[in-house]
Amino acid sequence: MRYYPVFLDFDDADVLVVGGGEIAARKLRLILRTGARVLVVAPEVCDEVRAMAAQGQLAWQPRRFADDDIDRQRYIVAATADAAVNRHVALLARGQNIPVNVVDDPDACTAITPAIVDRDPVLVAIGTEGTAPVIARRLRERIEALLSPGLGAVARFIRDHRERVKTNVPEAQRRRVWEQFLDGAGAAAVEAGDVSEAIDALQAASRQAEAPTGHVALVGAGPGAPDLLTLRAVRLMQDADVVLHDRLVPAPVMELVRRDAERINVGKQQGRHPVPQERINQLLIEHARAGKRVVRLKGGDPFIFGRGGEEITDLAAAGVSFEVVPGVTAANACSAYAGIPLTHRDHAQSVIFVTGHRKADGDLTLPWETLARPAQTVVIYMGLGSLGESMQALIAAGCPKHRPVAVVQDGGLPGQVVVTGQVQTIASQVEDAGLRSPALVLLGDVVRLRDKLAWFGKQVRA
Ligand SMILES: C[S@@+](CC[C@H](N)C(=O)[O-])C[C@H]1O[C@@H](n2cnc3c(N)ncnc32)[C@H](O)[C@@H]1O
Repeated sequence: MRYYPVFLDFDDADVLVVGGGEIAARKLRLILRTGARVLVVAPEVCDEVRAMAAQGQLAWQPRRFADDDIDRQRYIVAATADAAVNRHVALLARGQNIPVNVVDDPDACTAITPAIVDRDPVLVAIGTEGTAPVIARRLRERIEALLSPGLGAVARFIRDHRERVKTNVPEAQRRRVWEQFLDGAGAAAVEAGDVSEAIDALQAASRQAEAPTGHVALVGAGPGAPDLLTLRAVRLMQDADVVLHDRLVPAPVMELVRRDAERINVGKQQGRHPVPQERINQLLIEHARAGKRVVRLKGGDPFIFGRGGEEITDLAAAGVSFEVVPGVTAANACSAYAGIPLTHRDHAQSVIFVTGHRKADGDLTLPWETLARPAQTVVIYMGLGSLGESMQALIAAGCPKHRPVAVVQDGGLPGQVVVTGQVQTIASQVEDAGLRSPALVLLGDVVRLRDKLAWFGKQVRA
């Protein structure tokens, strides 16, 4: 980074503009919106600058630039049609450490003006260090569309009421008051011009902050790719006070969590032991009772082999407010990114999700006859460790040995690996390929479609 971003206070500051043509006028339009005392030095000026001078918005001295014009200036714009004059002005300004902007001559500048999105007093400045104005323009268009035209009015309302909130609301709760105000009826009322309704909304938010009620959001983080999160998941992650997350939630997703939020990895403690489920449930309740906004971030979807049901059963029993945000479950991610539709008019009229995780006694009890039936897709979560055993059990239950099977490791992630084979061969193929968790097993005729539909990642075939 060569240019340091900074906003200069022009209130009551002396600003010099050398030159008075169309380009100078363009610069002046913005400068005159500040409280700067502007002097334009130029033998001739365009009609717009002449009008500005006539209206008393600036002082115009109709003469050539003199070296001592730069004395006491806070900022200088060199905008004459003569590059040599502009360079001379810039050299003198540099000598006195006064920021100078020279039109169409980036090398002579010590200050450049960014592209802006203006919701005064909210100002978004976009700079590319002069490398690619087209990017700045494109970003400006996008940000313009994102920001409500009334944002400036909301900012002014907050400025006018900050002191009162500071006096009445303890520091720890202030951020939440303003966030609630922004997300709720308050900001909407300001934008609609209804100040008394906005004040009511602010008072309600302040009262609520005095007795904060905690809340837990059980959020599905999808298969691990940040752009497969829902917008709601991201909003809750950015609002959270505490985030309890699983081992399956990778760093790029965690980067979207609010920087100041407390993060608790319940997937593993020191020594790699996961926090017991009862303790997780207890932690959720404790943090919510302390008035915090808690996000319980779980890989995939919270209600698919995620123990989400157990967690909210305890929350409901404890009277803690909660919500559940669905996520892209591994079956959907693996299916989409491996090119294996879960259903297909010709091959599978139903889908069954099962877990290959053994019970505490080591038993793997699944309805094998049901799973062996034709015209369906079977998805086995956590099925890698018991793959050989489950394939044998399927064959014993009548499943054809040649029925196609795929195992997808890291589905939907850049390093996705897919091994395809048949019920009788897949276990040894997966072993040879050295697949590891997380991996999902897909069984059924739909797997054959991958030959035509694969579009993503790496493939290992029998
Ligand atoms: C405890 S379950 C959690 C499932 C999760 N709630 C979901 O909806 O995807 C973990 C299992 O999900 C599967 N899984 C999760 N993410 C995966 C991914 N990116 N690729 C393949 N399988 C995945 C694996 O079978 C893994 O062992």
